[in-house]
Amino acid sequence: MTRLRLGVNIDHVATVRNARGEGYPDPVRAAEMALAAGADGITAHLREDRRHISDADIDQLAVICRRRGRPLNFECAVTPEMEAIALAHRPHAACLVPERREEVTTEGGLDVVRGHNAIAPVVARLAQAGIRVSAFIDADEAQVRAAKAVGAQVVELHTGAYCEAVREKRPQAGGLLTKLKAAAATARELGLEVHAGHGIDYETVKPIAAIPQLVELNIGHFLIGEAIFIGLGPAIQRMRALMDEARAQAAA
Ligand code: PXP
Repeated sequence: MTRLRLGVNIDHVATVRNARGEGYPDPVRAAEMALAAGADGITAHLREDRRHISDADIDQLAVICRRRGRPLNFECAVTPEMEAIALAHRPHAACLVPERREEVTTEGGLDVVRGHNAIAPVVARLAQAGIRVSAFIDADEAQVRAAKAVGAQVVELHTGAYCEAVREKRPQAGGLLTKLKAAAATARELGLEVHAGHGIDYETVKPIAAIPQLVELNIGHFLIGEAIFIGLGPAIQRMRALMDEARAQAAA
């Protein structure tokens, strides 16, 4: 099985910074530390309301990722403004996500089935600029096929429902993991690269990391929370170790 990459999402360092309107803690410093601790790349979501990451953060993250030769995964909604920002920076990857202002976090996947006509031309323009385009979708076969149809190279499967079910000890957790496995297998059969993310913690990372078609996990909120207690570097290293353990056990 291939080594699983870890993308660290540093949005919530900016959430803490913005809560006081100060210049600290700095998400760019967190990105530098994450890369030094073994993150394979940095993920940042520039929301339309700029509630955490700012335009200036994206400018700086693009610079440090380029300098270090590590990928920046730019998460954004499918809007003309975000497309223009992505085209200006040409990050390694753009992950297209749904966005509703009233939501606390990205609550579900992008509806690529219904959004085909709006999404396909944006994917084409980003891809033309050399950006790998990922669609953040629910683990649903129709959405996987729709992501392929709009020209995405990558799908990121939304793991939020599964992670929440595990944390709340709900019996649906097993079925949700089965859906993630099925969606990953379909995506791979269609030639898509398969990523996963949202809500992953130390407990849920192993069953997810054991899904063989996955090549990248994007993890943020739990790592930033854990960093309060043990530091960002150790939190990332522990997550990395659990990912590697899961892969080794699945391959044995
Ligand atoms: N991947 C995507 C596409 C996301 O929108 C998010 C949340 O911003 C994550 C991964 C990371 O989720 P979490 O912060 O819950 O680990």
